[in-house]
Amino acid sequence: MAHARARLLAVVVALGATACGGGSSSKPQLSSLAARGAGLVQVKPCLVCHTTNGGPAAGPTFSGLAGSRVTLADRTTVTADDAYLKRSILDPGAQTVAGFPKGLMATLVKPASVTPVQADAIVAYIDSLAGVKPAK
Ligand code: HEC
Repeated sequence: MAHARARLLAVVVALGATACGGGSSSKPQLSSLAARGAGLVQVKPCLVCHTTNGGPAAGPTFSGLAGSRVTLADRTTVTADDAYLKRSILDPGAQTVAGFPKGLMATLVKPASVTPVQADAIVAYIDSLAGVKPAK
């Protein structure tokens, strides 16, 4: 009887080891701020026009965006640092990325529909996608 229970225990332990030993998960760990941003881009209309994996959409992908050089419609280039990203979110009409329609984002993202605090979280999320190379 005690023997049987010991064997059962050994099986359970072995199963547990297999289930947990499957290697690391492929998703990078997000900071809590970035995790909040990841949630916000889903409840806001952002993902209607932006992808997070490099795929094409009405707007530029968020993957590989942070820290990259962005060419604007007036042919100037800017670095997509946190200040640029935050401004792009809070004031979509201020600058237009070359090759994309001016004013499109503002049709769904109304002024003040994203608060500065929410924008910070979204920027942290976009930063977390910096290392993800856009699939061109
Ligand atoms: C109706 C489509 C649409 C929606 C919805 C939308 N965007 Fe955009 N977004 C665009 C387009 C088009 C551009 C590029 C043209 C421009 O700069 O205005 C852009 C540009 C951006 C940029 C700058 C990208 C770059 O490559 O420099 C950021 C950051 C951004 N959007 C974030 C957001 C966030 C966050 C939301 C949700 C709150 C959002 N967008 C919702 C269409 C959209």
